[in-house]
Amino acid sequence: MCGIVGYIGSKEVVSVLIDGLKHLEYRGYDSAGIAVLHNNTIEIRRSKGKLNELAEMVLAQPVPGNIGLGHTRWATHGRPSEENAHPHEDCKGEIVVVHNGIVENYLSLKDELQARGHVFVSETDTEVFAHLIEEEFTDDLYAAVQRALKKVKGTYALGVMSLKAPGQIIAARFDSPLIVGLGKDEYFIASDVPAILNHTRDVIFLDNGEIAVLKQDGVKITNLDGEEKEKAVVRITWNAAQAEKAGYRHFMLKEIFEQPIAIEDTIRTRLGEDNIHLEEMELSEQQLNEIEKVVIIACGTSWHAGLVGKFIIEELARIPVEVDIASEFRYRSPIISGKTLTLAISQSGETADTMAGIRQAKASGSKIISICNVLGSSIPRESDGTIYTHAGPEIGVASTKAFTAQLTALYLLAIYLGRKRGAIGAERTKELINELRRLPHLAGNILKEDANLKKLAHEFSYYKDFLYLGRGINYPIALEGALKLKEISYIHAEGYPAGEMKHGPIALIDEDMPVVTIAVHSKTYDKMLGNIEEVKARDGIVIALATEGDTEVAKKADHVIYIPHAMEIFSPILTIIPLQLLAYYIADKKGCDVDQPRNLAKSVTVE
Ligand code: G6P
Repeated sequence: MCGIVGYIGSKEVVSVLIDGLKHLEYRGYDSAGIAVLHNNTIEIRRSKGKLNELAEMVLAQPVPGNIGLGHTRWATHGRPSEENAHPHEDCKGEIVVVHNGIVENYLSLKDELQARGHVFVSETDTEVFAHLIEEEFTDDLYAAVQRALKKVKGTYALGVMSLKAPGQIIAARFDSPLIVGLGKDEYFIASDVPAILNHTRDVIFLDNGEIAVLKQDGVKITNLDGEEKEKAVVRITWNAAQAEKAGYRHFMLKEIFEQPIAIEDTIRTRLGEDNIHLEEMELSEQQLNEIEKVVIIACGTSWHAGLVGKFIIEELARIPVEVDIASEFRYRSPIISGKTLTLAISQSGETADTMAGIRQAKASGSKIISICNVLGSSIPRESDGTIYTHAGPEIGVASTKAFTAQLTALYLLAIYLGRKRGAIGAERTKELINELRRLPHLAGNILKEDANLKKLAHEFSYYKDFLYLGRGINYPIALEGALKLKEISYIHAEGYPAGEMKHGPIALIDEDMPVVTIAVHSKTYDKMLGNIEEVKARDGIVIALATEGDTEVAKKADHVIYIPHAMEIFSPILTIIPLQLLAYYIADKKGCDVDQPRNLAKSVTVE
């Protein structure tokens, strides 16, 4: 995890760094720090806690200068504290480093360095970089970093600065994201695009094993052996305002409201009259026809999207689908062959377990397709093809618009596969496409119910446990609804397939247990009505999601949230929206830090 940013140019660097770090706080926020090189000194400011504390500290003790590095941390090695906050220094305070990733051999390196007299002041793995570079330095910082990196095993996005080589920043990447921003006579490094978007839209995505040297007059990129690399400059089309709150109280709320546009943008340009354009799949007709099985791997909310994906792909493309949590997949012996299509779903494109899963699947000969929201991130770069969701930057830790955009991409993929393989014909495809086109509008209608949901949420903010029930394609939505609530409000919530209620959760039901039931029109509608009866018979409180115009559910449930009518297969993209709002308003009412819930991080780049 962690976020890094660096700048060299003519602006006052502190404001560039603090602004950059604000946009990276989603990557971690337990401590933060900056280092500024100015007049033959390196000034460091670090503080435990949220970025505001660091911002106040630099306000009280300003640091002038035009070259510097910044870091926001999510602890892996060493508890959150000022000593463990980055930047870290070598023994003489002449070299500073910021790092995202994990140095796997840090203990043996640390032992060796200590034996040679180096003094460590933190518990972090990162500090070994500073001492290694110190040892390797003769007269060239770039060469010292290059040699140091060859001794390190693990993952890194690294920024280095030294008094011994004043006008430059060295950056390097291996398995942790890092970009270089190109401005006019100014250059940046950052873990992610939003950090520098207020200054430039032109970026280079570093690849594994690349080192960048940033100087006032330009950037040079080489591999670890020093061979210069020609790199494409990518122009970022979304703007900084898209990464701001735009008047909403929290990013999460803004992102919930952005769902109609996220769905729209994800289908835009991909819908034909009776076919789907997904050339980015990069699979030939023959490869598509040879697929015998789809294996979906993902984590967290993306895994829930994968569970919905199983229903969609099996129904429309008639291909068997397995869905795995990536951290489980990577440690078992899955049966994968050249005829398996592995589908990785990841908002960030950086989740370590998902990445490890695709490498394992690739080694077994499987083609890899990813569904991802972040352009140029690691998972797409290791995939044969990527279907990008166009949700724009998602800042709130609890995923919302990225989830509905992932579902949208899964619909596109399933229809595409079904049509190409002849599982669905032109007429059915047309119907599905017409329904897809309606989704942004239907999602917008649900959002109009915001005020009612807020009222309902406030009534329920005092409960300690919730149960969420769904069946079929809405069973994963019960899981996702429960996850949203527990992530941001710290209320215990469990999602369950409603048919399983009688095998356990029913024992928990009493007047203190709100039960959220997804009872929209579906093949299992009658069964859901039965479940509602069972909850009521045990004095449970039922909040039901029902299809507009349904009067039956209202007779049984305590509260009803209406969802516009849509084909059952598309219902998850609608049913999740009120559940996101319910969780949001409960958490906000409880005074929780909605965008940065405790112990969580947006992008989990460690195992
Ligand atoms: C973290 C985030 C979740 C996200 C999961 C997977 O746990 O807090 O919101 O669903 O990682 O992330 P990915 O970027 O791979 O979708």
